[in-house]
Amino acid sequence: MTAEISILHVGKTYTTPQGGVVALDDISLVVPPGEFLCIVGPSGCGKSTLLRMLAGISSHTSGEINCRAVDERQRPLTAMVFQEYGLFPWRTVLDNVMFGLEMRNVARRERIVIAQDYLAKVGLAQFARAYPHQLSGGMKQRVAIARALANDPAILLMDEPFAALDAQTRYLMQEELLRIWEADRKTVLYITHSLEEAVMLGDRVAVMTARPGRIKQIYPIDLPRPRTQALRTSVAFNQLVATIWEDLVEEVNAAQLQEWTAIAEQKGRTGWLNSQQRKTRVKVSTD
Ligand SMILES: Nc1ncnc2c1ncn2[C@@H]1O[C@H](COP(=O)(O)OP(=O)(O)O)[C@@H](O)[C@H]1O
Ligand SMILES: [Mg+2]
Repeated sequence: MTAEISILHVGKTYTTPQGGVVALDDISLVVPPGEFLCIVGPSGCGKSTLLRMLAGISSHTSGEINCRAVDERQRPLTAMVFQEYGLFPWRTVLDNVMFGLEMRNVARRERIVIAQDYLAKVGLAQFARAYPHQLSGGMKQRVAIARALANDPAILLMDEPFAALDAQTRYLMQEELLRIWEADRKTVLYITHSLEEAVMLGDRVAVMTARPGRIKQIYPIDLPRPRTQALRTSVAFNQLVATIWEDLVEEVNAAQLQEWTAIAEQKGRTGWLNSQQRKTRVKVSTD
């Protein structure tokens, strides 16, 4: 099968006044069409950097990124959904969802039909004329998802989209996202700091190392679909979470140590660093 996305030996070094920051080092990843791939890794390991490169809003400094050619309708290759929603506050919900279609000069009547259709899919048909400030966090994120999908991208890139939501809303949104995804199976790259969320959603879960980010291991998630929150209580689900966590926690600890070392060096307090190291090994927690 042709790969939807193929990332080969990709590296990224940021240039800063203090020198180069190696964010990603030798990342290789092949994603087949229609796969829901989740990526987990400690904070600062380069997850957002990787997604931004795939979205074409950041460049890589080495290696190769190839995405399958898009069809002649000139659909955009990717659409991105962030934690911060990124809605235009001066536009109504409907106008927000129509934004990408407008940019592509889709006729107004068609734009409205498409946007209304996606608003209905995310359960917000009644709120077409509302403004973002009138919506809850969960509703805003639904608008952001509808806006991304209305563009009919080949690849959906999601960067911790539900991280700011409360647990109940997050669970609801996960199920809703799966329901929408199962209807047309777009290729999804989904970054999350919640391992449980990754196992709940993904066909595979990729674990990244502490910075410089590399792919440490990729786990197939062979849990049946459609998936619902009931899965959380199953043995298979919990076993997968526990296995992957063992791998992830090493990287979380390594990243924490990197952060402390940087602070201690800045402050010239290596004694403090040693005491911190002794005190803290990250306790097992997955959410
Ligand atoms: N524009 C930038 N300039 C310099 N360093 C950056 C920039 N963006 C990110 N970084 C650094 O690159 C590393 C990876 O960042 P990021 O991709 O945001 O990580 P993650 O999303 O995994 O938390 C971090 O150390 C971060 O400080
Ligand atoms: Mg990030």
